[in-house]
Amino acid sequence: MADTDRQIIAVADTAEMARTAAERIMARIDGNDGRIALCLTGGSSPKQLYRLLASDAYRSRIPWHRVHWFIGDERFVPEGSPLNNMGEARRIFLDQCAPASNIHAIPTLAANPDDSAERYARALKSFYGADECSPDRPLFDVVLMGIGPDGHTASLFPGDTALDERERWVVGVRSAHVEPFVPRVTLTLPALGSCSEMLFEVAGREKRAILTRLFHGENLPANRARSIGGQTVWLVDKAACPESFRGQ
Ligand code: 6PG
Repeated sequence: MADTDRQIIAVADTAEMARTAAERIMARIDGNDGRIALCLTGGSSPKQLYRLLASDAYRSRIPWHRVHWFIGDERFVPEGSPLNNMGEARRIFLDQCAPASNIHAIPTLAANPDDSAERYARALKSFYGADECSPDRPLFDVVLMGIGPDGHTASLFPGDTALDERERWVVGVRSAHVEPFVPRVTLTLPALGSCSEMLFEVAGREKRAILTRLFHGENLPANRARSIGGQTVWLVDKAACPESFRGQ
């Protein structure tokens, strides 16, 4: 199934989803012999993929010294909290595999989410080497994304002003629309979109209702998040896929 600039790949289950995502990430890594930037996501969907990347099969294939790990959104809680997105990624795989200097967490010890957002934007710009993203030189090789029950992605919630941000790369979000109800810090659509590939993982029966709305083209954050000039791919498992869209 495909629309103009988004490819939807159906997979059987979460195991196949993790393998497919891992192979797509490996293809991007193999296609770039310089410094690689991967932007991770929170929530439960990517955890199987993270475990797979730490398994012998992938661990030995990843050139860890030249891969840099970022996070697309963060809950404004200490890194040690189980709610902290980068903290979870670190505990599941990064701390065992990646050099500490290649792990770029959103700082949540900042005074408030706006301050944290400014600090992360500065870190991203310094890594990228410019204050503006150029369409022919994406900030990230791959940006991983998930979709919430209300159609949010990263911490870009329906109706929030953060969605319309055009200048800033990272913004503070005072209140989340879904659990956990903690302030967030999120990359904006232009920053997330500056990637060779934006890769969504959507799995489970509970995602079927929101996928139905998204596939009908509702103006929701997940439908607005696209790679600018690269590929946008949604991996959707059987349980999540609305019946009316099966086989398309
Ligand atoms: C977060 C996210 C968020 C997440 C979706 C999907 O911090 O919560 O990054 O955008 O990706 O809500 O979450 P699940 O994978 O848990 O369904």
